[in-house]
Amino acid sequence: MNSPAMQGLSLHAPAWVRNAKLVAWVADMAALCKPDAIHWCDGSEAEYNQMCQQLVDAGTFKRLNPAKRANSYLACSDPSDVARVEDRTFICSEKKEDAGPTNNWMAPAEMRATLQPLFDGCMQGRTMYVVPFSMGPLGSPIAHIGVELSDSAYVAVNMKMMTRMGKAVYDVLGVDGEFVPCVHTVGAPLQKGEKDTTAWPCNPKTKYIVHYPATREIWSYGSGYGGNALLGKKCFALRIASNMGREEGWLAEHMLILGVTNPQGKKFHVAAAFPSACGKTNFAMLIPPKGFDGWKVTTIGDDIAWIKPSQDGRLYAINPEAGYFGVAPGTNTLTNPNCMASLNKDVIFTNVALTDDGDVWWEGMSEAPAHAIDWQGKDWSPAIAKETGAKAAHPNARFTVAATNNPALDSAWDDPAGVPIDAFIFGGRRSTTVPLVTEARNWNEGVYMAATMGSETTAAAFGQQGVVRRDPFAMLPFAGYNMSDYFQHWLDLGKKLAASGAKLPRIYTTNWFRKGEDGKFVWPGYGENMRVLKWMIDRIEGQAHGTEHVFGVSPAYEELNWTGLDFSAEQFKSVTSIDKAAWQQELKLHSELFEQLAYHLPTELSETKGRIEARLAA
Ligand code: OXD
Ligand code: MN
Repeated sequence: MNSPAMQGLSLHAPAWVRNAKLVAWVADMAALCKPDAIHWCDGSEAEYNQMCQQLVDAGTFKRLNPAKRANSYLACSDPSDVARVEDRTFICSEKKEDAGPTNNWMAPAEMRATLQPLFDGCMQGRTMYVVPFSMGPLGSPIAHIGVELSDSAYVAVNMKMMTRMGKAVYDVLGVDGEFVPCVHTVGAPLQKGEKDTTAWPCNPKTKYIVHYPATREIWSYGSGYGGNALLGKKCFALRIASNMGREEGWLAEHMLILGVTNPQGKKFHVAAAFPSACGKTNFAMLIPPKGFDGWKVTTIGDDIAWIKPSQDGRLYAINPEAGYFGVAPGTNTLTNPNCMASLNKDVIFTNVALTDDGDVWWEGMSEAPAHAIDWQGKDWSPAIAKETGAKAAHPNARFTVAATNNPALDSAWDDPAGVPIDAFIFGGRRSTTVPLVTEARNWNEGVYMAATMGSETTAAAFGQQGVVRRDPFAMLPFAGYNMSDYFQHWLDLGKKLAASGAKLPRIYTTNWFRKGEDGKFVWPGYGENMRVLKWMIDRIEGQAHGTEHVFGVSPAYEELNWTGLDFSAEQFKSVTSIDKAAWQQELKLHSELFEQLAYHLPTELSETKGRIEARLAA
């Protein structure tokens, strides 16, 4: 514990930390990273407030006007550090084939040799926060524990919102419990006496987001933003957990989970995978529109689902997170009233604009203020925006808020047993080709739909926006192992559940984003998506016949409840029609994907494709 490098720095592990492996690991990491101090987070309110005050003093946080947003803060990041960096994200399995063609790979030994000098002394002049967290309800058989070491107080306070963080985790961990070690640094050490010259220290040149699946470790260097830095989220709950799920027979998915209760009080649970910034939070908090009296939608999770088979043969899901790190732009009282209500107090905003009365604003929130300070600290007004195109908020600006702020929170959101899943939805963002909703005829066809899903890219990841890329299962940036093996895992799980006599969840694909000739979205989306959700439930209940087509079953116009919405049969046709030429082109893109994923590609998927092609040719 007191290696030469640790001299002068005391670990001061509190008495409630009884896990010897954890204490030894913290000592090793402190010896490597050489922080000036170590803070063992207890997760208390007092600690949260104190860390926020420290961030205010450092200029990282601005306290918002308490009369407008009680106990809330705004952080603005370095302009080079605004989104997940997919090209700097690595899966370091022993063999390259195990990371597969969709992940960046480096051999573990080579990556360790690369990171060693970067992490050596990386926390100098800073405090190392020890952040213990549970992904999932404390003690749930579906949950797992992680500990993040970070030199960013911003990360520590965000982790408090996003996970079950604090002392109670140590009780679950006990003296010899397992945890996923996660090390994070902003990669900006300070020399003796040196002070930060920026309110958002990071390393603009060097970033590494690294996963070692065999040892279940995460190392993150150089970024302080979102999924690059809050390591419980994408790194643990998706990339490492997908590996755990593969080994242990469960699923870690990029899915929201919602409960939907009909007027008779019967409740269904749906898990839905949409790519980043494609409306998962909106769908998870949906308010049923006119014509749906007595229906209720409640949120279990808005981004990630861990799903395990239970004794009764059904799949049960938990939300491993405890908060929402949602995209702010476009969120308003029409697109997501429950979300807006969640943001009234106790929120951390990142990269939105600051209004003159100390509140926040983002594009699409409400009428623009006459003046604001934009996310880069510059004067902003509608006139400036018109002239220069400057955005008040960054398109990937976020809010961090505890799930308990959500007025539509499901009563079972924290149930250690999870909720039984009745249906899976996979929904890409496609201006053309893909119909509003389609039900797969069977599990394998559903896996095919999910595997070949395409979506137009968004600001959630650094890089070009609006280009269609294949995003299998909305997991392209998040599957922690070979994508074809991941497909096989889904197929195997389906086979196993079916063999046990279990009723498998139905599988649907949706597309809310088809555009008309005028370039505008045809489907109104948001709360109106309830109409599609209800049709799915009707199908599950055997009350909707549907119309069969080349790749599944879609509703006839009359099968949707149109009360309260003026949407003609003609408009419906324009969001559900299947254009043969477009589908022939689409299947060529599926072929390209399958060529890319040829290693270990399950034969079931090539066979399903063959059947779709035959039907299309007929
Ligand atoms: C997210 C993402 O932050 O998917 O949830 O990028
Ligand atoms: Mn996400």
